[in-house]
Amino acid sequence: MGPGFLGTNAPRTADLTLVIELGMGLALLVGTWFARRRRYRAHAWTQSIVVLLNLLVIGLVMAPSFRTQVLPELPGRLGRSYFALATAHGALGMVAELFACYILLVAGTKLLPPKLRFTNYKPWMRTALALWWLVLILGLATYVRWYGVPFSKHQENSWIINSNSAV
Ligand code: HEM
Repeated sequence: MGPGFLGTNAPRTADLTLVIELGMGLALLVGTWFARRRRYRAHAWTQSIVVLLNLLVIGLVMAPSFRTQVLPELPGRLGRSYFALATAHGALGMVAELFACYILLVAGTKLLPPKLRFTNYKPWMRTALALWWLVLILGLATYVRWYGVPFSKHQENSWIINSNSAV
């Protein structure tokens, strides 16, 4: 995997994931604005595409990374921020994605029996959006902890490399 494009120690996939996830987080806000303007078809399309696309990003990038980089170190190294952040992010991320899929099933399909459906959409969708953004922020924190701050000159590892070459 080639180097990333955000000026950190991240591989290109991580940088791509970061940009895609930020884009999707913003798209959900645009979709929320559609709902407030009563443009419900546009709202439904925007939120559904984001939730389904995110299933792909989780399945192709984040879950495999979690399985290989984080899971083998649990629970022993949970005290370290490197693993704690990724674990909180992954666990809540799972909840957020499942919650969003459930809302899609209720609002967009007739698959679920009446007993499992809700009709007061607002609190459900607001909770899902808040949870999603919490997970997004934890994802950003994971990125920064793992690879450093984008476009910042003060990378942990580059400091080590620089101080080594200065010796
Ligand atoms: C709403 C759902 C989610 C959002 C918005 C989200 C967002 C993000 C963002 C912005 C990053 C930083 C980019 C990166 O480092 O690759 C990230 C990284 C990561 N996420 Fe998620 N994520 C979600 C769900 C999940 C789930 C369900 C898991 C675990 C099964 C997970 C595990 C990870 C891991 C391990 C990383 C570090 C990946 C790496 O750099 O190798 N995420 N996530």
